[in-house]
Amino acid sequence: MRPPGPGTPPPRISLPGVRHLLAVASGKGGVGKSTVAANLALALARSGAKVGLMDADIYGPSVPIMMGIPCPVDQATTPFPIEKYGLKLMSIGFVVPQDRAIIWRGPMVDRALRQFLTELSWGPLDYLILDMPPGTGDAQLTITQQTNLTGAVIVTTPQDVSLIDARKGLEMFREVRVPVLGIVENMSYFMGEDGKRYDIFRHGGGQKLAEAAGVPFLGEIPIDPRVAECGDAGEPMVHRYPDSPITAAYMKLAESVVAQLDRVEGGAELPEVQMG
Ligand SMILES: Nc1ncnc2c1ncn2[C@@H]1O[C@H](COP(=O)(O)OP(=O)(O)OP(=O)(O)O)[C@@H](O)[C@H]1O
Ligand SMILES: [Mg+2]
Repeated sequence: MRPPGPGTPPPRISLPGVRHLLAVASGKGGVGKSTVAANLALALARSGAKVGLMDADIYGPSVPIMMGIPCPVDQATTPFPIEKYGLKLMSIGFVVPQDRAIIWRGPMVDRALRQFLTELSWGPLDYLILDMPPGTGDAQLTITQQTNLTGAVIVTTPQDVSLIDARKGLEMFREVRVPVLGIVENMSYFMGEDGKRYDIFRHGGGQKLAEAAGVPFLGEIPIDPRVAECGDAGEPMVHRYPDSPITAAYMKLAESVVAQLDRVEGGAELPEVQMG
């Protein structure tokens, strides 16, 4: 196959068996995109949906560790996507050692993502969640310009610096007219053993950003050491602690996401994202 020449747009990626393709993104690294993506996927699955989670982060994949998949995976015996915790999973980490993918150039990132999306049998799925890398690089270009994304969920933390970056993430989707389903504030507050709520960072920034940008606010996820422990141990919070208040927060987030999808698909006019 010849590579497309300059100016030739690559063929658009279609995913016939997937009803909703959702990106979990932010302008900045380390705000909890991967953790939100994994727990959101599990929360949607808990409500009865068929869900997949694809690592769109080629340089820093998180799905293998978060989901407890020892890598590299034996491709002779393991069909992709891998099924675990009721989800269909794919990550570059399953097939390529981390130190190799990290030096890939843009076209290789593009090709890997296209292959994941077009050559694996994902469907039938209600939701395929894409765990996006930080920033606005090659993977974002491939996903936003070449797929029919149903919508994007933007993750932020309450601090101002993170909000500035979240704006960049918002702007990227606005430019390609992908509906921003809303903003979720991660590591929002801490719930003490005493049942009291502690605002560790200045709280409410996500809500303010949502208001300023004219997009929905989807909810807040508390900060809790168990969230990180679960991620490192390969069993996300929603699966490990199904009855915890944090899992309840992820379930609420899933409900908000579904409500926004209904709204978007009901033909609701998307507000232009205001970037004042
Ligand atoms: N609500 C939370 N409470 C406590 N720790 C959290 C929470 N959310 C995420 N973390 C932890 O914060 C760290 C960063 O999270 P994560 O890897 O999900 O961020 P990311 O935005 O995907 O990062 P990257 O930009 O590198 O892909 C991880 O150690 C994760 O376990
Ligand atoms: Mg990540």
